[in-house]
Amino acid sequence: MNRNTTAAVMADDANYIAHTYSRAPVVFVRGQGSRLWDADGREYIDCGSGIAVTSFGIADEQWQAAVSAQAAAVQHVSNLYHTAPQARLAAMLCEATGMQKVFFGNSGAEANECAIKAMRKYSSDKYGPGRHTILTLKHSFHGRTLATLAATGQDAFHKHFGPFPEGFDYIEPGDTAALAARLKRGDCCGMLVELVQGESGVRVVDKQWIQVAAQLCRQWDVLFAVDEVQTGNGRTGTLYAWQQYGIRPDLFTTAKGLAGGLPLGACVFAASTADVLGPGDHGSTFGGNPVCAAGAISILERIDAALLEKVKQKGEYLRRRLENTPGITDVSGLGLMLGFSAQKPAAQVAAECRGKGLLVLTAHDRVRLLPALNIPHHLLEQAADILQEVCKP
Ligand SMILES: Cc1ncc(COP(=O)(O)O)c(C=O)c1O
Repeated sequence: MNRNTTAAVMADDANYIAHTYSRAPVVFVRGQGSRLWDADGREYIDCGSGIAVTSFGIADEQWQAAVSAQAAAVQHVSNLYHTAPQARLAAMLCEATGMQKVFFGNSGAEANECAIKAMRKYSSDKYGPGRHTILTLKHSFHGRTLATLAATGQDAFHKHFGPFPEGFDYIEPGDTAALAARLKRGDCCGMLVELVQGESGVRVVDKQWIQVAAQLCRQWDVLFAVDEVQTGNGRTGTLYAWQQYGIRPDLFTTAKGLAGGLPLGACVFAASTADVLGPGDHGSTFGGNPVCAAGAISILERIDAALLEKVKQKGEYLRRRLENTPGITDVSGLGLMLGFSAQKPAAQVAAECRGKGLLVLTAHDRVRLLPALNIPHHLLEQAADILQEVCKP
Protein backbone atom coordinates (compact mmCIF):
# COMPACT_ATOMS: atom_id res chain seq x y z
CA MET A 1 0.00 0.00 0.00
CA ASN A 2 1.27 3.44 -0.93
CA ARG A 3 1.31 5.40 2.34
CA ASN A 4 1.95 8.74 0.63
CA THR A 5 -1.45 9.22 -0.99
CA THR A 6 -3.75 11.87 0.45
CA ALA A 7 -6.09 9.23 1.89
CA ALA A 8 -3.29 7.16 3.45
CA VAL A 9 -1.54 10.18 5.01
CA MET A 10 -4.82 11.43 6.42
CA ALA A 11 -5.58 7.98 7.84
CA ASP A 12 -2.15 7.77 9.55
CA ASP A 13 -2.64 11.30 10.85
CA ALA A 14 -6.07 10.42 12.25
CA ASN A 15 -4.73 7.26 13.87
CA TYR A 16 -1.35 8.37 15.16
CA ILE A 17 -1.10 12.14 15.52
CA ALA A 18 -2.49 13.93 18.56
CA HIS A 19 -5.55 15.81 17.44
CA THR A 20 -4.34 19.30 18.35
CA TYR A 21 -4.79 20.76 14.86
CA SER A 22 -7.86 20.94 12.68
CA ARG A 23 -6.05 20.35 9.44
CA ALA A 24 -7.32 20.94 5.93
CA PRO A 25 -7.56 17.73 3.86
CA VAL A 26 -4.45 18.45 1.79
CA VAL A 27 -1.04 16.77 1.72
CA PHE A 28 1.70 18.97 0.31
CA VAL A 29 4.51 17.23 -1.50
CA ARG A 30 6.37 19.92 -3.41
CA GLY A 31 6.71 23.64 -3.77
CA GLN A 32 8.51 26.38 -5.62
CA GLY A 33 8.51 29.93 -4.34
CA SER A 34 4.91 30.96 -3.69
CA ARG A 35 3.41 27.87 -5.31
CA LEU A 36 2.69 24.50 -3.71
CA TRP A 37 1.53 21.18 -5.12
CA ASP A 38 -0.45 18.55 -3.26
CA ALA A 39 -0.24 14.76 -3.48
CA ASP A 40 -3.00 14.78 -6.10
CA GLY A 41 -1.06 17.17 -8.35
CA ARG A 42 -3.21 20.24 -7.61
CA GLU A 43 -1.42 23.58 -7.62
CA TYR A 44 -1.93 26.36 -5.04
CA ILE A 45 -0.81 29.95 -4.58
CA ASP A 46 0.58 30.22 -1.06
CA CYS A 47 -0.60 33.31 0.82
CA GLY A 48 0.15 31.85 4.23
CA SER A 49 3.88 31.01 4.09
CA GLY A 50 3.45 28.36 6.78
CA ILE A 51 2.16 31.19 9.05
CA ALA A 52 4.83 33.77 8.17
CA VAL A 53 7.70 31.28 8.12
CA THR A 54 8.87 30.65 4.56
CA SER A 55 10.08 34.22 4.07
CA PHE A 56 11.33 33.67 0.52
CA GLY A 57 8.91 30.91 -0.37
CA ILE A 58 9.22 27.17 -0.62
CA ALA A 59 12.47 25.51 -1.69
CA ASP A 60 14.12 28.89 -2.21
CA GLU A 61 17.45 28.18 -3.94
CA GLN A 62 19.70 30.47 -1.91
CA TRP A 63 18.25 29.20 1.35
CA GLN A 64 18.54 25.58 0.19
CA ALA A 65 22.19 26.04 -0.76
CA ALA A 66 23.07 27.65 2.58
CA VAL A 67 21.24 25.03 4.63
CA SER A 68 22.54 22.05 2.61
CA ALA A 69 26.14 23.27 2.77
CA GLN A 70 25.96 23.69 6.54
CA ALA A 71 24.21 20.31 6.99
CA ALA A 72 27.02 18.69 5.04
CA ALA A 73 29.71 20.51 7.08
CA VAL A 74 28.56 20.41 10.73
CA GLN A 75 24.87 19.94 11.55
CA HIS A 76 25.19 20.34 15.33
CA VAL A 77 27.82 20.62 18.05
CA SER A 78 25.93 21.86 21.14
CA ASN A 79 26.18 25.25 22.71
CA LEU A 80 29.28 24.17 24.66
CA TYR A 81 31.23 25.23 21.56
CA HIS A 82 31.25 28.02 19.02
CA THR A 83 29.97 27.83 15.46
CA ALA A 84 30.53 30.48 12.82
CA PRO A 85 26.91 30.66 11.55
CA GLN A 86 25.50 31.34 15.04
CA ALA A 87 28.06 34.06 15.76
CA ARG A 88 27.62 35.63 12.33
CA LEU A 89 23.84 35.63 12.63
CA ALA A 90 23.96 37.29 16.06
CA ALA A 91 26.26 39.97 14.65
CA MET A 92 23.90 40.53 11.70
CA LEU A 93 20.89 40.90 14.00
CA CYS A 94 22.71 43.36 16.28
CA GLU A 95 24.23 45.40 13.47
CA ALA A 96 20.87 45.72 11.69
CA THR A 97 19.00 46.85 14.82
CA GLY A 98 21.51 48.63 17.06
CA MET A 99 20.99 45.93 19.69
CA GLN A 100 23.83 44.32 21.62
CA LYS A 101 23.31 40.62 22.38
CA VAL A 102 21.21 37.67 21.23
CA PHE A 103 20.00 34.47 22.87
CA PHE A 104 18.89 31.78 20.42
CA GLY A 105 16.09 29.28 21.08
CA ASN A 106 13.95 27.19 18.76
CA SER A 107 10.59 28.90 18.59
CA GLY A 108 8.61 32.03 19.28
CA ALA A 109 7.38 30.75 22.63
CA GLU A 110 10.93 30.02 23.72
CA ALA A 111 12.12 33.43 22.61
CA ASN A 112 9.36 34.95 24.73
CA GLU A 113 10.20 32.70 27.70
CA CYS A 114 13.72 34.08 27.49
CA ALA A 115 12.39 37.65 27.41
CA ILE A 116 10.16 36.95 30.44
CA LYS A 117 13.08 35.48 32.40
CA ALA A 118 15.37 38.35 31.44
CA MET A 119 12.85 41.03 32.46
CA ARG A 120 12.30 39.35 35.81
CA LYS A 121 16.01 38.91 36.44
CA TYR A 122 16.74 42.54 35.54
CA SER A 123 14.29 43.61 38.21
CA SER A 124 15.31 41.04 40.81
CA ASP A 125 19.02 41.98 40.39
CA LYS A 126 18.25 45.67 40.75
CA TYR A 127 15.32 45.82 43.16
CA GLY A 128 15.10 42.39 44.84
CA PRO A 129 11.98 40.21 44.89
CA GLY A 130 8.33 41.24 44.46
CA ARG A 131 8.59 43.27 41.30
CA HIS A 132 7.91 40.46 38.86
CA THR A 133 4.68 41.31 37.03
CA ILE A 134 4.80 41.49 33.26
CA LEU A 135 2.14 43.50 31.49
CA THR A 136 0.91 42.36 28.10
CA LEU A 137 -1.91 43.57 25.88
CA LYS A 138 -5.41 42.26 25.67
CA HIS A 139 -5.96 40.35 22.38
CA SER A 140 -2.27 39.35 22.30
CA PHE A 141 -0.77 35.94 21.62
CA HIS A 142 2.66 35.00 22.92
CA GLY A 143 2.90 31.20 22.65
CA ARG A 144 1.80 27.82 24.00
CA THR A 145 4.14 27.16 26.92
CA LEU A 146 2.60 27.73 30.35
CA ALA A 147 4.31 31.08 30.86
CA THR A 148 3.60 32.36 27.35
CA LEU A 149 -0.02 31.19 27.61
CA ALA A 150 -0.25 33.14 30.86
CA ALA A 151 1.28 36.11 29.03
CA THR A 152 -1.31 35.81 26.24
CA GLY A 153 -4.02 38.41 26.80
CA GLN A 154 -7.01 36.27 25.82
CA ASP A 155 -9.13 34.49 28.43
CA ALA A 156 -9.77 31.59 26.06
CA PHE A 157 -6.13 30.53 26.52
CA HIS A 158 -6.32 30.53 30.31
CA LYS A 159 -8.39 27.37 30.71
CA HIS A 160 -7.66 23.68 31.41
CA PHE A 161 -3.93 23.83 32.05
CA GLY A 162 -3.69 25.68 35.34
CA PRO A 163 -2.09 26.54 37.58
CA PHE A 164 -0.35 28.99 35.29
CA PRO A 165 2.73 30.93 36.36
CA GLU A 166 1.53 34.04 38.14
CA GLY A 167 2.73 37.57 37.53
CA PHE A 168 0.98 38.61 34.32
CA ASP A 169 -1.58 41.34 33.84
CA TYR A 170 -3.30 42.70 30.75
CA ILE A 171 -3.88 46.21 29.43
CA GLU A 172 -6.34 47.14 26.67
CA PRO A 173 -4.33 48.71 23.82
CA GLY A 174 -4.90 52.47 23.95
CA ASP A 175 -5.88 52.57 27.64
CA THR A 176 -3.24 54.94 28.99
CA ALA A 177 -5.04 55.49 32.30
CA ALA A 178 -5.15 51.75 33.02
CA LEU A 179 -1.47 51.38 32.15
CA ALA A 180 -0.44 54.34 34.31
CA ALA A 181 -2.50 53.05 37.25
CA ARG A 182 -1.08 49.54 36.89
CA LEU A 183 2.51 50.78 36.75
CA LYS A 184 1.92 52.90 39.84
CA ARG A 185 1.41 49.77 41.93
CA GLY A 186 5.17 49.27 41.66
CA ASP A 187 5.19 45.50 41.11
CA CYS A 188 5.94 45.44 37.36
CA CYS A 189 9.28 44.55 35.79
CA GLY A 190 8.34 44.57 32.13
CA MET A 191 5.81 45.07 29.40
CA LEU A 192 5.65 42.74 26.38
CA VAL A 193 3.66 43.87 23.33
CA GLU A 194 2.87 42.78 19.81
CA LEU A 195 2.66 45.83 17.53
CA VAL A 196 0.38 44.00 15.10
CA GLN A 197 -1.64 41.34 16.88
CA GLY A 198 -1.60 38.58 14.30
CA GLU A 199 -3.38 35.70 15.97
CA SER A 200 -6.32 37.82 17.09
CA GLY A 201 -7.09 39.03 13.59
CA VAL A 202 -4.26 41.38 12.50
CA ARG A 203 -5.02 44.25 14.87
CA VAL A 204 -2.58 47.10 14.40
CA VAL A 205 -1.76 48.74 17.73
CA ASP A 206 -1.70 52.54 17.52
CA LYS A 207 1.80 53.96 17.03
CA GLN A 208 1.33 57.05 19.20
CA TRP A 209 -0.05 54.96 22.04
CA ILE A 210 2.90 52.56 21.86
CA GLN A 211 5.22 55.57 22.17
CA VAL A 212 3.28 56.75 25.23
CA ALA A 213 3.35 53.24 26.73
CA ALA A 214 7.10 52.90 26.16
CA GLN A 215 7.67 56.30 27.75
CA LEU A 216 5.52 55.46 30.79
CA CYS A 217 7.40 52.19 31.24
CA ARG A 218 10.70 54.06 31.08
CA GLN A 219 9.55 56.40 33.87
CA TRP A 220 9.03 53.38 36.15
CA ASP A 221 12.16 51.53 34.98
CA VAL A 222 9.84 48.86 33.59
CA LEU A 223 11.46 47.15 30.59
CA PHE A 224 9.68 47.49 27.26
CA ALA A 225 9.80 44.36 25.08
CA VAL A 226 8.34 43.78 21.63
CA ASP A 227 7.18 40.35 20.44
CA GLU A 228 8.21 40.30 16.77
CA VAL A 229 7.68 36.58 16.35
CA GLN A 230 5.15 37.13 13.57
CA THR A 231 5.81 40.76 12.59
CA GLY A 232 9.58 40.40 12.31
CA ASN A 233 12.06 39.73 9.54
CA GLY A 234 10.66 42.08 6.92
CA ARG A 235 7.01 41.08 7.22
CA THR A 236 5.61 44.57 7.94
CA GLY A 237 7.86 46.52 5.55
CA THR A 238 10.70 47.20 8.00
CA LEU A 239 13.12 44.55 9.27
CA TYR A 240 11.32 44.70 12.63
CA ALA A 241 8.00 46.47 13.15
CA TRP A 242 9.31 48.55 16.09
CA GLN A 243 11.59 50.30 13.60
CA GLN A 244 8.52 52.07 12.17
CA TYR A 245 7.01 52.81 15.60
CA GLY A 246 9.56 55.41 16.70
CA ILE A 247 10.56 53.39 19.76
CA ARG A 248 13.65 51.52 20.87
CA PRO A 249 12.72 48.50 22.97
CA ASP A 250 14.90 47.13 25.77
CA LEU A 251 14.58 43.75 24.12
CA PHE A 252 12.63 42.09 21.34
CA THR A 253 11.87 38.54 20.30
CA THR A 254 11.53 36.95 16.90
CA ALA A 255 11.16 33.51 15.29
CA LYS A 256 8.88 32.30 12.45
CA GLY A 257 10.36 33.90 9.29
CA LEU A 258 13.86 34.27 10.75
CA ALA A 259 15.28 31.00 9.42
CA GLY A 260 12.93 30.72 6.42
CA GLY A 261 11.43 27.36 7.43
CA LEU A 262 13.73 25.96 10.10
CA PRO A 263 13.05 26.23 13.84
CA LEU A 264 14.87 29.21 15.27
CA GLY A 265 13.88 31.86 17.78
CA ALA A 266 15.86 34.80 19.08
CA CYS A 267 15.64 37.14 22.04
CA VAL A 268 17.59 40.27 21.16
CA PHE A 269 18.84 42.55 23.94
CA ALA A 270 19.58 46.29 23.93
CA ALA A 271 22.34 47.77 26.12
CA SER A 272 19.92 47.97 29.08
CA THR A 273 19.41 44.19 29.14
CA ALA A 274 22.49 42.83 27.34
CA ASP A 275 24.20 41.55 30.48
CA VAL A 276 21.18 40.47 32.52
CA LEU A 277 21.49 36.77 31.69
CA GLY A 278 24.83 35.27 32.68
CA PRO A 279 26.39 31.79 32.58
CA GLY A 280 23.88 29.13 33.65
CA ASP A 281 20.89 31.47 33.63
CA HIS A 282 19.42 30.10 30.43
CA GLY A 283 20.16 27.55 27.72
CA SER A 284 18.86 25.37 24.91
CA THR A 285 20.26 22.21 23.33
CA PHE A 286 19.30 23.13 19.79
CA GLY A 287 19.01 26.91 20.07
CA GLY A 288 21.04 28.63 17.36
CA ASN A 289 21.84 25.31 15.71
CA PRO A 290 24.28 25.99 12.84
CA VAL A 291 21.97 24.67 10.10
CA CYS A 292 19.12 26.91 11.27
CA ALA A 293 21.55 29.81 11.68
CA ALA A 294 22.89 29.31 8.14
CA GLY A 295 19.31 29.38 6.84
CA ALA A 296 18.66 32.58 8.79
CA ILE A 297 21.79 34.27 7.43
CA SER A 298 20.58 33.54 3.89
CA ILE A 299 17.25 35.21 4.78
CA LEU A 300 18.61 38.28 6.60
CA GLU A 301 21.21 38.91 3.88
CA ARG A 302 18.39 39.61 1.43
CA ILE A 303 16.13 41.76 3.59
CA ASP A 304 17.59 45.06 2.42
CA ALA A 305 16.05 48.47 1.67
CA ALA A 306 15.05 47.45 -1.87
CA LEU A 307 13.30 44.28 -0.69
CA LEU A 308 11.52 46.15 2.10
CA GLU A 309 10.31 48.77 -0.38
CA LYS A 310 8.85 45.98 -2.51
CA VAL A 311 7.16 44.44 0.54
CA LYS A 312 5.49 47.81 1.19
CA GLN A 313 4.44 48.19 -2.45
CA LYS A 314 3.04 44.67 -2.67
CA GLY A 315 1.27 45.16 0.65
CA GLU A 316 -0.29 48.40 -0.64
CA TYR A 317 -1.39 46.73 -3.86
CA LEU A 318 -3.03 43.84 -2.00
CA ARG A 319 -4.65 46.18 0.52
CA ARG A 320 -6.10 48.32 -2.31
CA ARG A 321 -7.48 45.26 -4.04
CA LEU A 322 -9.06 44.00 -0.81
CA GLU A 323 -10.49 47.41 0.05
CA ASN A 324 -12.15 47.52 -3.37
CA THR A 325 -13.62 44.04 -3.12
CA PRO A 326 -17.36 43.82 -2.38
CA GLY A 327 -17.99 41.56 0.59
CA ILE A 328 -14.67 42.43 2.24
CA THR A 329 -14.52 44.94 5.10
CA ASP A 330 -12.14 46.18 7.81
CA VAL A 331 -8.88 45.54 6.00
CA SER A 332 -6.00 45.95 8.44
CA GLY A 333 -2.30 45.30 8.71
CA LEU A 334 1.15 46.49 7.74
CA GLY A 335 3.25 45.44 4.76
CA LEU A 336 2.54 41.85 3.78
CA MET A 337 0.67 41.08 7.01
CA LEU A 338 -2.96 41.76 6.21
CA GLY A 339 -6.32 40.77 7.67
CA PHE A 340 -9.93 41.38 6.72
CA SER A 341 -13.49 40.48 7.60
CA ALA A 342 -15.83 38.85 5.09
CA GLN A 343 -19.56 38.33 5.02
CA LYS A 344 -18.97 34.57 5.05
CA PRO A 345 -17.27 32.92 8.04
CA ALA A 346 -13.48 33.13 7.71
CA ALA A 347 -13.14 29.33 7.73
CA GLN A 348 -15.54 29.10 4.79
CA VAL A 349 -13.55 31.72 2.87
CA ALA A 350 -10.36 29.74 3.50
CA ALA A 351 -11.96 26.46 2.39
CA GLU A 352 -13.47 28.01 -0.76
CA CYS A 353 -10.16 29.68 -1.61
CA ARG A 354 -8.38 26.35 -1.20
CA GLY A 355 -10.87 24.78 -3.57
CA LYS A 356 -9.84 27.40 -6.13
CA GLY A 357 -6.11 26.92 -5.56
CA LEU A 358 -5.35 29.65 -3.03
CA LEU A 359 -4.08 29.16 0.53
CA VAL A 360 -5.10 31.80 3.04
CA LEU A 361 -5.11 31.77 6.84
CA THR A 362 -7.72 32.64 9.40
CA ALA A 363 -7.33 34.34 12.77
CA HIS A 364 -10.45 34.20 14.93
CA ASP A 365 -13.24 35.40 12.65
CA ARG A 366 -10.90 37.14 10.22
CA VAL A 367 -9.06 36.07 7.09
CA ARG A 368 -5.29 36.60 7.26
CA LEU A 369 -2.77 36.91 4.44
CA LEU A 370 0.96 36.41 4.98
CA PRO A 371 2.48 35.77 1.55
CA ALA A 372 6.21 35.30 1.01
CA LEU A 373 8.16 38.56 0.98
CA ASN A 374 9.13 37.93 -2.65
CA ILE A 375 5.76 36.74 -3.98
CA PRO A 376 5.63 37.70 -7.68
CA HIS A 377 3.13 40.41 -8.55
CA HIS A 378 1.16 38.19 -10.96
CA LEU A 379 0.49 35.65 -8.18
CA LEU A 380 -0.74 38.43 -5.88
CA GLU A 381 -3.05 39.53 -8.69
CA GLN A 382 -4.38 35.99 -9.10
CA ALA A 383 -4.81 35.67 -5.32
CA ALA A 384 -6.79 38.92 -5.20
CA ASP A 385 -8.96 37.72 -8.13
CA ILE A 386 -9.78 34.48 -6.30
CA LEU A 387 -10.58 36.37 -3.07
CA GLN A 388 -12.87 38.65 -5.07
CA GLU A 389 -14.73 35.65 -6.48
CA VAL A 390 -15.00 33.88 -3.11
CA CYS A 391 -15.98 36.91 -1.03
CA LYS A 392 -18.54 38.44 -3.38
CA PRO A 393 -21.85 38.90 -1.55
C1 LIG B 1 3.22 37.04 18.18
C2 LIG B 1 3.53 35.60 18.44
N1 LIG B 1 4.28 35.28 19.51
C3 LIG B 1 4.61 34.00 19.79
C4 LIG B 1 4.17 32.98 19.00
C5 LIG B 1 4.55 31.56 19.31
O1 LIG B 1 5.49 31.12 18.39
P1 LIG B 1 5.83 29.55 18.25
O2 LIG B 1 4.63 28.89 17.71
O3 LIG B 1 7.01 29.52 17.31
O4 LIG B 1 6.21 29.08 19.62
C6 LIG B 1 3.38 33.26 17.86
C7 LIG B 1 2.87 32.19 17.01
O5 LIG B 1 1.92 32.33 16.29
C8 LIG B 1 3.06 34.61 17.59
O6 LIG B 1 2.31 34.95 16.53
